[in-house]
Parts: sequence; structure tokens; C-alpha cells
Amino acid sequence: MDTGKMTALEFESVSYRYPSEEFDIIDGLSFRVERGSFHCIVGTSGCGKSTIFRLTNGLLASKAGRILVEGAPIGGGRKQYCGYMPQKDLLLPWRTVGENVALPLEIRGGSSKAERRDRAEAALEDVGLAGCAGKMPHELSGGMRQRAAFARTMLTGSDLLLLDEPFSALDFLTRITMQEWLLDQWQRHKKTILFITHDVEEAVFLSSSVLAVADTPIRSLLEVPVPADYPRDRSCLKRPEMTDLREGLIDLLRKQVKG
Ligand SMILES: Nc1ncnc2c1ncn2[C@@H]1O[C@H](COP(=O)(O)OP(=O)(O)OP(=O)(O)O)[C@@H](O)[C@H]1O
Ligand SMILES: [Mg+2]
Repeated sequence: MDTGKMTALEFESVSYRYPSEEFDIIDGLSFRVERGSFHCIVGTSGCGKSTIFRLTNGLLASKAGRILVEGAPIGGGRKQYCGYMPQKDLLLPWRTVGENVALPLEIRGGSSKAERRDRAEAALEDVGLAGCAGKMPHELSGGMRQRAAFARTMLTGSDLLLLDEPFSALDFLTRITMQEWLLDQWQRHKKTILFITHDVEEAVFLSSSVLAVADTPIRSLLEVPVPADYPRDRSCLKRPEMTDLREGLIDLLRKQVKG
């Protein structure tokens, strides 16, 4: 029996074509993600990164191949096997922060309003937003909204989290603070995280290995290990092997833009 690490997510020869397009944007893609790992996905704009997430969470159905989460194929009404944070935080503006965070519990059903309120408050406290449950989303800063959206993603209870450019709209200082915060959350909650970013330094800082989209249509992901242990702080980014890795990834993406 394979005694290696458990697989959290696996794509087996997955293909997808948008109905209005004439080619498969995802073309026979296979890759495997180990449980408990943190991978950033980098690739040029429009190459199909978010499409990989939409296939994983079942918003889109692949035309060929299989997607397995924890060894079992998705589909067939399987619910909340992954937490998904879309490219924009998408907190519902007419609901309080607490009601937004409690949404996954409401969708799942079987919990009372008081129970949902308590769990939402605890999740908010965990992301440093104690006392914010009664506020409206517009009363929070960008970084606070992202943390609230993350708390909501955590309340899906899933071990696999798909985060699509969660920090791209934040200013530099808030972004690096959020990166440290996310690594801390990941280590405490032992989740598997896939994180799309355009920021190569962010990818190097966060990832156990970076998954780079090296060709379009996407046929494979190039796995590039990051030579640094956790816990990490930003000083590791100054090490020569880390700057080499960052520059190597930038070169790879540049070549792709040029075609
Ligand atoms: N609903 C759709 N119908 C048709 N084509 C689409 C649709 N959504 C996305 N596409 C196309 O598929 C390609 C991949 O889109 P996707 O959103 O996955 O890219 P991405 O890599 O996440 O880009 P970005 O980095 O800009 O977010 C794009 O070229 C886009 O034009
Ligand atoms: Mg995208």
C-alpha cells in the first residue's frame, strides 16, 4: 500500500472548454496536491487559473477527466468539500458581517440562529475581528473584509481551501501583514491551501512549492519547490536561493507573455 502522504486534490486528465470558445482552455491537465500543503498558482492573466478553481468547486463541469477530493470524485451532489474565496471578497452588502460569515452554516442547514451567531462570532474573533459581527461590510477596511471573507471560507468546515487572489487589492503593508497572518492560520488549522496570485514574491513567501502555469492551454503545472522551512518570516526572502527562485519564476512568466 502507498504509505506516502494523503492526496487532498487530484486532477486526472481534466479538460474544459467554455461554450463560447473554440479550444479547450484546460487540456488533459493532471496534477496532485498533498494534504496539508500550501501551493500558490502563478500564471499570466487569462491563462485559466480561476477556471481550475471553478472546476474544483463544481461551478463548472469538466468535459473529460476526473477531479478527486480526498480520493473520491466530486459531483453527485457532494457539498462543501472545499472552501472557495472568489477573486473579489463578495461579502453581501445588505447583510451584517456576522450574517455574511454564517452563510455556509445557513446553506448547510440544521443549525439554529443562535448557534450560527455564536460560531460566526468565534470565527471572527479567530481572524482578529472580535466585535465586528454587527457591522456592515462597508464599515470595514479592505484587509478586514478579506479576513471576514476568510472566516466565512473557514466556516465551510472544509480542509481544502481555494483562495483566488485574496490579497491583490490590498496595499503593500496590509498585504504582507495578511500573508504572515494567513501562514499562521494555515499552520494552526492544518488546512490544504491553493492560492492564486500574480505576485511572484507572495508566491515564494507562502508556498511549500509553487505551481506555475507554463503553457496555454493548460496541459500541466510546473511544480517548483521553495527552499525554506516553516514558520517563515520575510527575512528568508533575502536569501540568494529565494531571490534566484523569484527571478526564475518571473523569467518563466515573461517568456509566456511573449509566447
Ligand atoms: N464565462 C466565460 N466564457 C467564455 N470564456 C471565458 C469565461 N470565463 C473566462 N473565460 C476565458 O477563459 C480564459 C481563462 O479565464 P480565467 O478566469 O480562468 O483566467 P485567469 O488565469 O484566472 O486570469 P486572471 O489572472 O486575469 O484572473 C480567459 O481567456 C477568459 O477570457
Ligand atoms: Mg483569475
